[in-house]
Amino acid sequence: NGQGRLIVVSNRVALPDQTATGGLASAMRAALQERGGLWFGWSGKMARQTGDDVHRLTDGPVQYTTIDLSRSDHDDFYDGFANRTLWPLLHFRPDLVDYDRKHLAGYLRVNNLFAEQLMSLIHPSDLVWVNDYHLIPLAAMLRERGVRNRIGFFLHTPLPPASLLIALPRHMELLETLASYDLVGLHTARDRRALEEYFLHEVGATMRRDGRIRTPEGRSFRAEAFPIGIDTPEVVASASHANEHKEIHDLKQSLEGRALIIGVDRLDYSKGLPERFQAYARLLERSPQLHRKVSFLQIAPPSRGGVPEYRQIRRDLERMAGHINGMYAAPDWVPIRYVNNSFPHSLLSGYYRSARVGLVTPLRDGMNLVAKEYVASQDPDDPGVLVLSRFAGAAQELAGALLVNPADTEEVAEALGVALEMPLHERRRRWRQMMDVLEKQDVTAWRNAFLRRLAS
Ligand code: UDP
Ligand code: G6P
Repeated sequence: NGQGRLIVVSNRVALPDQTATGGLASAMRAALQERGGLWFGWSGKMARQTGDDVHRLTDGPVQYTTIDLSRSDHDDFYDGFANRTLWPLLHFRPDLVDYDRKHLAGYLRVNNLFAEQLMSLIHPSDLVWVNDYHLIPLAAMLRERGVRNRIGFFLHTPLPPASLLIALPRHMELLETLASYDLVGLHTARDRRALEEYFLHEVGATMRRDGRIRTPEGRSFRAEAFPIGIDTPEVVASASHANEHKEIHDLKQSLEGRALIIGVDRLDYSKGLPERFQAYARLLERSPQLHRKVSFLQIAPPSRGGVPEYRQIRRDLERMAGHINGMYAAPDWVPIRYVNNSFPHSLLSGYYRSARVGLVTPLRDGMNLVAKEYVASQDPDDPGVLVLSRFAGAAQELAGALLVNPADTEEVAEALGVALEMPLHERRRRWRQMMDVLEKQDVTAWRNAFLRRLAS
C-alpha cells in the first residue's frame, strides 16, 4: 500500500462540507477517507494574488491545504489553457480547441506556483500523487527544485491518439514532461496505448525490456491502465437507506407509477446531452403508448461557466427541453424534468435507485463514475437497466449494459425501448454481472493498485 505519507495534488479539492461534483473529486475523497493523507489544490476561490491565502483544515485522517488563485491566473490557467485548450483536445474535439500563448503562460505560471507551495510540504518519505490535465508539468517543476520522491500522475480524462495530440501547438514541450513522473496511470488500455504511441513516434522514446518508456534524454517512466472505481459498499449502503430521505419519497410520489429514466452529468459538451434529449424525443415520437407512462429526469449542474462553449450548451439544452416538453407534454405530464442543480451522493443514490433506466451517453469520457454509481444503487431484487455509451471508459468493464453509439439517435431510442420493457430475469442477470466488477474493482482496489505500483 506504499509507505510514508500520501500527498494528493489536484486542481479541484473536495472539502469536507462540499458536494464533490466531478469524478476526480468523488474518487479522491473516497480514496483518502480511510488511508488518510494531505490533499493540496485550489480552494475554488479567488484572491488578489495566487497563494496569498493558504487555507488549512483537518478532517479525521485527511489534511487539506488549499490556495486561492488570482483572477488572471484563474482565467488563463483554469478557464484558459486547462478548459479551452486541453479539455476539448483530450475529449477528441480539436474543432473546439482554442490556443492562446497567454493561456499557456498562465498554465505554466500556476503549475510553478503549485510546485513552490508544495516544496514546503513534501517530506523525503512522502508519496506524491498528482492528478489530471491541469497539472501535467508539475513533476518536472518539482524535479527542477530537487524533489527526489516517488511522484505518480493519474489522468482522469481519455487520451486521444498521437495523430490528434500533435494538433496542440508545442505539444512536445508539455507532454514530454510526463516522463518526470515515476508512474503515469490512465483509465483504459486504449488510453495507455495512445500514450505509448505518442512517446515512441513523436518523442522518439523506446520501450525498455521491463516495460518502462525511455526518452532520448534518458528519463524513464511506467505507463499503466488503472480503471477507476467507486466506493461500492458506501453507494450500496446509501442507496438502501434512500427511502429515509423526504426528497426520494417526494420524487417517487410525483412519478405516480411512471417509469423513470435518469441522467446525471455536469453540463459539459462531452456528455452528449443534446444527442440524449434528441433520442428521448425520438422515443416519444415512435412510441405513443409511452406518453404519460415515462418521465426523464436530467440532473445537470452547470460547469465552467467562464468558457463560451459551456454557456452555449446550456442555452441549447434549455431550448431543447422547452421544445420537447412543448411538443409532448399534457396538462398532467411533463416528459423532461431538467434540473440545473447539484445533489449530494446520499440523495443521488436514491434518485438512481428510483429509476428504471440509467441513461449515460457521453460522446467521450475517461471512465464515467455516474454509470457505476447507477448500477451499484439498484435494488438487487428489482434492478434497473443501464444504457451506456461505447465511448465511456466504463463500457470496457460494464458488459451488462446496453451499449450504444450516442450519435445514433435511432439506436439510443431503441435501447431505451428495450430497457423499459426488459423482463426481470434479464435485468437481474445483467445487473449481477456488472456488480461483480464493481465489487471487485472498487475505488479502494484502484487506489491500492496505483500506490503499490508507485512505491515498487
Ligand atoms: N455528482 C454529484 N452531484 C451531482 C452531479 C454529479 O455528486 O449533482 C458526482 C457524481 O456522483 C459522480 C461525479 O460527480 O461521482 C461525476 O463523475 P463522472 O466520472 O461521471 O463525470 P465527470 O464530471 O468527472 O466528467
Ligand atoms: C472532470 C475532470 C476533473 C474535474 C471535474 C469537474 O472530472 O477530470 O479534473 O475536477 O471534471 O470539473 P471542474 O472544472 O469543476 O473541476
